[in-house]
Amino acid sequence: MSAKPTEASGLERILTLEIARVTERAAVAAARLRGRGDEMAADQVAVDAMRQELNRLPIDGTVVIGEGERDEAPMLYIGEEVGTREGAKVDIALDPLEGTTICAKNLPNSLAVIAIAEKGSLLYAPDVYMEKVAIGPGYPANTVSLDATPTENIHAMARAKGVPVEQVTACILDRPRHARMIEEVRATGAAIRLIGDGDVAGVIHTTDPDETGIDIYLGIGGAPEGVLAAAALRCIGGQMQGRLQLNTEEKVARAAKMGISDPNKIYTMEEMASGDVLFAATGVTDGNMLQGVRFTRDAIITHTIVMRSSSKTVREIKARHQDLEKFD
Ligand code: FBP
Repeated sequence: MSAKPTEASGLERILTLEIARVTERAAVAAARLRGRGDEMAADQVAVDAMRQELNRLPIDGTVVIGEGERDEAPMLYIGEEVGTREGAKVDIALDPLEGTTICAKNLPNSLAVIAIAEKGSLLYAPDVYMEKVAIGPGYPANTVSLDATPTENIHAMARAKGVPVEQVTACILDRPRHARMIEEVRATGAAIRLIGDGDVAGVIHTTDPDETGIDIYLGIGGAPEGVLAAAALRCIGGQMQGRLQLNTEEKVARAAKMGISDPNKIYTMEEMASGDVLFAATGVTDGNMLQGVRFTRDAIITHTIVMRSSSKTVREIKARHQDLEKFD
């Protein structure tokens, strides 16, 4: 089968369901190694499984956000061509196991994640850090900004939500680099949810504060994860900005090779993921939005969210897999 682009957009609708298989496979593989304390092993099995399933997709895909540069990642490296090569030309951002440490410790919110977009519509971000701010849908444009201080963003968020600042919760990665920001946010009266890892989930969680308890994401995490999170927010709605942390000449040069000429540029969500975008995430460990993989006596149960930017459709797929051989 070959997936030809539809008239309405560059991506074939059927892919919105097909990509669920890709993250399901990776999540199941990683989940088998949950809590074993071996990040690398869990990541490797997730990479293998995702690559296998990705190569069954009827796409002519290129990995633009992947496991690393070609010389450092044998599989799903940046530039690797994937899919059956018969369908639409697409760019792919992926993270077969987002939150390797979370998985190794069996803590909440590790995910298998992928975004598929029309060629040229994802930011080719180098593997550096990115400063991020994100909020969910339903707020006036430009409510938050990386030009504003954390204090200003927290107050703007509270005003837009119509609640006292004490009722706002910010999600921040628990890192020494955030010590000053954490102090500043606490001084506003807002609450903080400190997470050990997994800021793709952290950003996505802002889109459903009633469920997750998180209103705003702030701080510095991986740039690849930033592009993946932007792709998700393009589909669900919300606001996000990212600024690459190109603080050495080597990083500036690396970014320049990837087409980034202004090292201080603030990227909007649309600049990180434009055009039609599909996004899927399957829970590896239990989380605030997705249940982790369950292994029952006769089935494997997965919980996946799949979405598409052009239609803003968000589907949750709870799958009960009884053909267990396909996961071997
Ligand atoms: P991995 O899945 O590669 O372990 O990344 C986990 C993560 O927490 C990301 O979610 C986040 O963007 C990044 O690491 C932060 O990097 P660091 O651990 O260096 O602060």
